Amino acid sequence: MTGPSLKQLHAHKQIHDTGLGLAIEMTDDLIVKFREGDEKEIVTQVVEIVEFWESRVLSHAEAEEEAGGLYAEMEAKSPELHDKVQMLKRDHDLLKQVVTKIKMQMENEGFSTQIIDYCRTLIILNEMHSRDEEKFLLA
Ligand SMILES: [Fe+2]
Ligand SMILES: [Fe+2]
Repeated sequence: MTGPSLKQLHAHKQIHDTGLGLAIEMTDDLIVKFREGDEKEIVTQVVEIVEFWESRVLSHAEAEEEAGGLYAEMEAKSPELHDKVQMLKRDHDLLKQVVTKIKMQMENEGFSTQIIDYCRTLIILNEMHSRDEEKFLLA
């Protein structure tokens, strides 16, 4: 997910939107499985959701923050973007914290409906973050 595509609004927005769509789909699936009540299926789905957020979204965030990545480049080009970049980094941090909460809670207490709340929180946070990123850095 590195390379020039992150610096192009259209390609970058597409990565955001594809990810968002998948996250919504997987979370909706989790709710269906929760209603069906099959414990094993529920746990499998949560594991898949966590893997999705880590491999698709948190790794995307890491690429944006890495040395020479999008954030560093934009800030070097336009130093006035510093505060916006800090805000966007904080969003990444919150996403990471919520993913960690899901993992910790699954490990310590197992599934509860709070996991669904965390999944929905990730979707909302990520959508707000993506729109701001597109507006501040890519428009
Ligand atoms: Fe980002
Ligand atoms: Fe992004």
